[in-house]
Amino acid sequence: MSNSFRSLMEGRKSIVPVIVLPNLDSALPLADTLSAAGFTTLEITLRTDCALEAIAQLRQARPELVVGAGTVKNPGQLRAALDSGSQFIVSPGTSPELIQGAAARGVPVVPGVMTPSEIMTAENLGLDTVKLFPASLAGGVDFIKAMGAVFPGIGFFPTGGISEDNVDQYLALPNVVCAGGSWLTPGSLVTAGNWDRIHEIAHRC
Ligand code: 3PG
Repeated sequence: MSNSFRSLMEGRKSIVPVIVLPNLDSALPLADTLSAAGFTTLEITLRTDCALEAIAQLRQARPELVVGAGTVKNPGQLRAALDSGSQFIVSPGTSPELIQGAAARGVPVVPGVMTPSEIMTAENLGLDTVKLFPASLAGGVDFIKAMGAVFPGIGFFPTGGISEDNVDQYLALPNVVCAGGSWLTPGSLVTAGNWDRIHEIAHRC
């Protein structure tokens, strides 16, 4: 397996739904709703108890999708996420231990950054993509533009405060690999199983 998040994203839609799954039963219908709208890369955050089981289920039942784990904050979560079959790891911060742990298993990892120092740490550990988080508070589009001159080899995966109103501004930047967010999967609609409404939202992006 390649260590490059960018390679993993090649040929796929450059918007990644960031999902906080309320229950396991929602996993398949939600994934099917999103993939019917073209979203084939999904980030399932480890913020709910069913997340790991959902990742394992999706890997088995929907092998055509790319399914990663988000909100990975410590080595125990990293191990569990990798054991569940996660194809990429997203963390809110930059931890060399997590970066090296994922690399040792050959799985791409995208650490959260807000500063050039964190980008340097990620770059020096061999990564090609970092997550600007929370993008809207960390300087957004202007920050990513400014970093392009200093880190020409680094791609950004901004999340945090992105919506259908501003996602195109991010995607227009040459050093943005993809953008992510929870706006495609509002918790109330997922809990209610309102797949039609989620399909409508997803279809607009
Ligand atoms: C993340 O984990 O990337 C963010 O929580 C997504 O941010 P959003 O909810 O503002 O889209």
